[in-house]
Amino acid sequence: MDKITTEVRAFYEAYPYPPEGQVDCDGYHGPLLLSYLQRTCSKLTRLQLLEAGCGRGLNLQTMAGKQTEVDFTGIDINRIAVQEATQRSKELGLENLQFLLADLLDKHTLPGVSGGYDIILSYGVLHHLSDPLQGLQHLTTLLASDGVIALMLDGSFGRQPLDRYLQALDLVQLRSKSGKDRSPVARALAHAAEEQLFKGNYWQGTSRVDEIEFADRCLHVHQTSYDLTALWQLLNSAGLCFIRWLEPNDWSLQSIIDDQDLLCQLEMLDEISRYRLIERLTYRPKLTLLAARQGSMPRSPLLANQVASSQFAINPQLHLNRHEVNGLTCTLRRRHIDLNHNACCQNILQKAEQLSLGFTGKNMVDMLAEQDYEPQQVLQGIQDLVESELLYRPYPEQDMV
Ligand SMILES: C[S@@+](CC[C@H](N)C(=O)[O-])C[C@H]1O[C@@H](n2cnc3c(N)ncnc32)[C@H](O)[C@@H]1O
Repeated sequence: MDKITTEVRAFYEAYPYPPEGQVDCDGYHGPLLLSYLQRTCSKLTRLQLLEAGCGRGLNLQTMAGKQTEVDFTGIDINRIAVQEATQRSKELGLENLQFLLADLLDKHTLPGVSGGYDIILSYGVLHHLSDPLQGLQHLTTLLASDGVIALMLDGSFGRQPLDRYLQALDLVQLRSKSGKDRSPVARALAHAAEEQLFKGNYWQGTSRVDEIEFADRCLHVHQTSYDLTALWQLLNSAGLCFIRWLEPNDWSLQSIIDDQDLLCQLEMLDEISRYRLIERLTYRPKLTLLAARQGSMPRSPLLANQVASSQFAINPQLHLNRHEVNGLTCTLRRRHIDLNHNACCQNILQKAEQLSLGFTGKNMVDMLAEQDYEPQQVLQGIQDLVESELLYRPYPEQDMV
């Protein structure tokens, strides 16, 4: 193990991540992540999901209990976290989840499965490695030929306020002291930064986050970050290509620009230039994306004539709430979506919520015929819901096209 990795391990053993109660499973839905890719081969065995740098494994434990059709493996260098996670999984009786000690930079320690992992996740890890490219290359070798890899890396533009704060911390020469010694002054300095440097951006509230989150942001021993050019280079050098952002809305010009003339002019920009523009106009501190082997393609859009026979399921990231006054409201990845004007879509979602095994367009047409909806209206409703990502198209386990 190299010197930086040893220091990073000691840091995380002192401050095991994530903090208690900080469970966020939005990026952990295996079949949903796979559904974004155009896949060509059949999968005859159970889906295999690997999280590289799983920390305390809290998200995996939540998901393993819900997705019993998937085998989950979590790896990390943190000996305390891996031991604790293994013990907790045993207590919870999660037979489809295992935790292993492994160093992403040492291929001899990495686990493997026949045919490769269908889904690999690595959130908030690569930017702490002494050699992020080598780590990502190792993950590529573990990936199934038509698997997906979901990554979160720190974005250098979005980190600017935090990086300036860290420079200030360096000026008071506290970076050389140990984390615990630096903590009180680092907190006080973060408090001073709240009024201006952190105001209104992602880092607001840093002075008040709990000890583990504060250490991760402010006392880290090894940290790098990426702009989009460097990120694309990293993917390319690891033999991967970009498939999509996990939250495409964050990277859409329409979500930050109202002026229609300007939007028309910007349409001539290529995809990556549009993202670079957003990177400069906003603070995007986390670059969270889905990648796959070079040559892979994002899933083709759903055509109207495919709706009746295709398989659908409710997006597991969707939260439906029923209000006496407002009726059905939905939240997708913390974004509120207004469905009040569309009773047919509301009905489709309410039915879909009860169908844990999914449904075809034809099934839904039959179910809503009882409520006097025309087949065409239901099929159009499904297509709209797929477009707004409230429904998704899981691949049938043994019959892929
Ligand atoms: C910020 S935490 C992220 C944990 C988890 N992915 C999450 O999002 O909650 C980074 C994790 O990466 C692990 N890590 C750092 N370097 C590693 C390496 N070389 N191999 C495996 N894990 C590593 C750390 O021990 C830590 O648990």
